[in-house]
Amino acid sequence: MRRKRGAPSSDKNLNLWLIWKLALVLSFIFLVIALVRIQFYSPLPVDDDDDVFEGNPRVAFMFLVRRDLPLDFLWQTFYENADADNYSIYIHSEPGFVFDETTTRSSFFYARHLTNSIKVGWGESSMIEAERLLLRAALENPANQRFVLLSDSCVPLYNFSYSYNYLMGSSKSFVDSFLDMKEGRYNPRMSSVIPMRKWRKGSQWIALVRSHAKVVAYDGVVFPVFKKLCKRRPPLDVSKGKQNLNLQKQHNCIPDEHYVQTLLAMNDLEGELERRTVTYTSWIQSATNMETKGWHPVTYSYASANPQQIKRMKGINHVYYETEHRTEWCKSNAVLFPCFLFARKFSRDGAMRLLTQGNFDASALLHTTTSR
Ligand SMILES: *[C@@H]1O[C@H](CO)[C@@H](O)[C@H](O)[C@H]1NC(C)=O
Ligand SMILES: *[C@@H]1O[C@H](CO)[C@@H](O)[C@H](O)[C@H]1NC(C)=O
Repeated sequence: MRRKRGAPSSDKNLNLWLIWKLALVLSFIFLVIALVRIQFYSPLPVDDDDDVFEGNPRVAFMFLVRRDLPLDFLWQTFYENADADNYSIYIHSEPGFVFDETTTRSSFFYARHLTNSIKVGWGESSMIEAERLLLRAALENPANQRFVLLSDSCVPLYNFSYSYNYLMGSSKSFVDSFLDMKEGRYNPRMSSVIPMRKWRKGSQWIALVRSHAKVVAYDGVVFPVFKKLCKRRPPLDVSKGKQNLNLQKQHNCIPDEHYVQTLLAMNDLEGELERRTVTYTSWIQSATNMETKGWHPVTYSYASANPQQIKRMKGINHVYYETEHRTEWCKSNAVLFPCFLFARKFSRDGAMRLLTQGNFDASALLHTTTSR
C-alpha cells in the first residue's frame, strides 16, 4: 500500500507538519551554534574580564628565597617611600617558613609567604616550579601588571618611584635571552616539543608583563619536558662506579637558565621583550677545584659595595651578547635608560653600606629616624 506522505488530509495536519519542520530547522540552527561555541571555547585563562581592576596598576615583587630575607632592612626603606596601592609582595620560602615579627624586622613582609611552597633544589626544575607558584599567586590580583622575580641577595639600586615608573613605562617584559649553541645543554630528545632553533639561555631574574606572566604560570607543554629532560648533572663521584658513568653521560642542563626564555621564544613573543635583565650580576670565573669550576656571581661585601662600584652598576647603559654579536642598548619605549634597577649578590654588610650611601632615597628615612 502506497502511503501518501505529506499529502494533506486537512488544514490541521498541514499546520502540524509546518510546526514540526520549523522545530527541526530551529534545533538544527541551535546545534550549529553550540558546535561553533565548543570550537572556540578555550579552557585556558585568556586576557579578558579577569584583568579588570580598580586603582593603580601594581608591581608584584616576587622573592624566591631559601629561608628568610636577610636584606629586609634595605627593602623596608624602599617600600616606605612607596604608595601602598602600587605594589604587592609575594615570597616563596621553604615549606613551613613563616614571615612574621619573629623572622623579619620589616612588617612589609609579614604573612607574604606562599602557604603552598615546595622544597626547592638549586638548579632543579623545582626552582622553576617555585617561580610558577609565585606567578600564579600574584596573578590572582588583577591589579598586578608587572611581575619581578628577586632573590634573597638582591638589592634595589633606585628608589621605589623610579623603579615603578621604569617598569610601568615599558609595555615589554625584560627577559635576558640569547642563543645558546655552544654548551650542549639542549637535549635532542626534546625536539618533538622544543625545536632547537627556539632554545634560549639567559638570567632567571625576569620582569614580566601580565600576559607573559600568564604564559609562564599556566604552561602545561614545555614545563613537563624540562622536568624530564633538563637536569643538572651531579658532580663527578668516583665511588659510585658504573652508576656515576651513566650520570656523566646525561645532558647537563640548568632549567632556570633556559625555561622562561625558551618558552617565550616558542610562543613567538620575542618581539614583545626587551631581551635583557634589569637585575645586575657580576660574574667571575673560578677554577679552584672540580666542583666549583665555572662562572660564579660575585658577592658584594662591605668593602666592595663602595660608592664607585654602585655608581658603575647604575651607569651601565648597554649589554653585549657575545654568541649573537648583539649589543643591547638599554631602552624603555625607545628611550635610553640605565640597564639595571636591582643588583645581586649582596651580603648583609654590603647592603648596610648601600643603605648609608642614600642611593635610593634612604636619606629621607635616615633623616626622619634621627630627628624623631
Ligand atoms: C627617586 O630617584 C630618582 C632617580 O635617582 C630621583 O630623580 C627622584 O628625585 C627620586 N624620587 C624621590 C621621591 O626621592
Ligand atoms: C603610584 O601609581 C600612580 C599611578 O600609576 C603613579 O602616578 C604614582 O607616581 C605612583 N607612586 C609611586 C610612589 O611610585
